[in-house]
Amino acid sequence: MPSPYDTLIRTPNPYQPRSARIVRITPLVKDNVLFQFRFEDEEFSREFSYKPGQFVELSIFGVGECPISISSSPTRKGFLELCVRRAGRVTNALYQLKENDLVGIRGPYGNGFPVAAMENKNLLLIAGGLGMAPIRSLLNYALDNRSDFHDVILMYGARDPGEVLFRNELETIRHRDDIKCLLTVDEASSEWDGYTGVVTELFKEVKLDAAATYAAVCGPPIVYKFVLKELLAQGFSKNHILMSLERKMKCGVGKCGHCSIGYKYTCIDGPIFTYWDAMNLRELI
Ligand SMILES: Cc1cc2nc3c(=O)[nH]c(=O)nc-3n(C[C@H](O)[C@H](O)[C@H](O)COP(=O)(O)OP(=O)(O)OC[C@H]3O[C@@H](n4cnc5c(N)ncnc54)[C@H](O)[C@@H]3O)c2cc1C
Ligand code: FES
Repeated sequence: MPSPYDTLIRTPNPYQPRSARIVRITPLVKDNVLFQFRFEDEEFSREFSYKPGQFVELSIFGVGECPISISSSPTRKGFLELCVRRAGRVTNALYQLKENDLVGIRGPYGNGFPVAAMENKNLLLIAGGLGMAPIRSLLNYALDNRSDFHDVILMYGARDPGEVLFRNELETIRHRDDIKCLLTVDEASSEWDGYTGVVTELFKEVKLDAAATYAAVCGPPIVYKFVLKELLAQGFSKNHILMSLERKMKCGVGKCGHCSIGYKYTCIDGPIFTYWDAMNLRELI
């Protein structure tokens, strides 16, 4: 008969990162870089899966770790992409590394977007600034499973054209006829051929059937303030408005309490919350 210790021994340590190699470093805009990683363990790398909206804890050996949203889509196997903004200790140390260097990654953590519930519905993806990082995972997931969703609309706002993340990719997507990809900047330059104005201005460009649509929103607090107001005015149900929210996190696995808000741990109950959750936990946004 197996002893309880057998299970303990076989259960992977949730705090132990896996070694991953930096495969590619792609500067996107100032102080925002896309890092592509591959786990050293090839079998683990092939099998590694996650949901759009989940995050990992990225560690730089000898420095520390921090939570970063997964920016790639689980439909594209064998690698993991993280879009990282230079902020402090860990991210600065990451920026010192080169292709082929090793980091530690543990996860995936968090709930992710409820993609199964979103099937056979329209998707309205709304991102502001770095919020495009987790939204890109959901966007590519939807494009790779295009027949599972009805209309797909992306609204993305950045401060100026030089701040538009994944611009080349989005330019390509903009020419597809199975998605409406609307890009706007607060301040345009002469080469900009997208929209000008805040992201909520883009609502004028689309006709939405709120009852048949899930909205996924990610951006700085100001984006939530105005976008949520607009979505409610359009008649969206509070359960069909999904938001990716960041909080200070440490363990990522519901143990340390750093990310608690009321009775929720944002690392396990989030980072994706419905507007309904946000109404019941006012400090969420
Ligand atoms: C679920 C989740 C997903 C995230 N996804 C991404 C991502 O895709 N790309 C990315 O670049 N960053 C992301 N972050 C933010 C990232 O974890 C922080 O910027 C982190 O502090 C960077 O670590 P550091 O050691 O470089 O900076 P630190 O030395 O820890 O801190 C730098 C500064 O950022 C502040 N800070 C720390 N955590 C946060 C936070 N959560 N929100 C706002 N300010 C914070 C600190 O107070 C300090 O002023 C995410 C955070 C969470 C919780
Ligand atoms: S980060 Fe430790 S409980 Fe959420």
